[in-house]
Amino acid sequence: MLLAFLQGCLASLLFLRQDRWWIPIQILFPPLVLIVLSLNLNANWFLAAFLLLSVVYWNAFRTRVPLYLTGREIESEILERLPESGFEFADLGSGLGGLVGGLAKQKQDGKFFGIEIAPLPYLVGKARCRKLPNCKMAWGSYDKTDLSRFDFVYAFLSPVPMQALYDKAKREMKPGSLFVSNSFEVPGIDADEVVDVGGKRLYFWRM
Ligand SMILES: C[S@@+](CC[C@H](N)C(=O)[O-])C[C@H]1O[C@@H](n2cnc3c(N)ncnc32)[C@H](O)[C@@H]1O
Repeated sequence: MLLAFLQGCLASLLFLRQDRWWIPIQILFPPLVLIVLSLNLNANWFLAAFLLLSVVYWNAFRTRVPLYLTGREIESEILERLPESGFEFADLGSGLGGLVGGLAKQKQDGKFFGIEIAPLPYLVGKARCRKLPNCKMAWGSYDKTDLSRFDFVYAFLSPVPMQALYDKAKREMKPGSLFVSNSFEVPGIDADEVVDVGGKRLYFWRM
């Protein structure tokens, strides 16, 4: 155990120039491996855990966007800002479909669309939307979604794709439509409005 701990400390030195959260991961990983091995678990549990994580986090190593969910306060804030009727809303990277499904239930005069790249969250979102005629879910990447039909586009992703996504929104969205990012700014482009809600920050750009 001591050797495993020392190995972790040594490994953490290689990560000094990376984000800080790598350091405790490096230090704790070898001792944790020893502890889990000592439990003598059936290897199928590890396979099952790997498969479950794969269908949830799917492309996260490529997109650099993990799954976390929009809270109720933000849902209410978005709901208040939606146009009266006859609009289309998109959640790019819709996760478990909670936001799209929740809004579609409360605002039946609009059309709601979610697109999600990871298979299991997509299926959960599709099941949530099943009984809502104004709610559609698609499986795939928003890179290939034409944004020109949407009046309101919401994204809760990570810092990594924001510049490319903003450029896409600017190219494709119609004048007067709204692009909103939960938590993540676009480097060098000031938002038209910034609102703090439910411990998060929403950035609004009018196209
Ligand atoms: C932070 S979660 C947000 C989930 C949901 N929008 C919500 O607010 O509750 C981001 C989601 O985006 C998905 N995602 C990442 N890149 C994507 C892409 N290029 N196309 C579609 N979905 C993507 C991830 O799989 C993840 O489920």
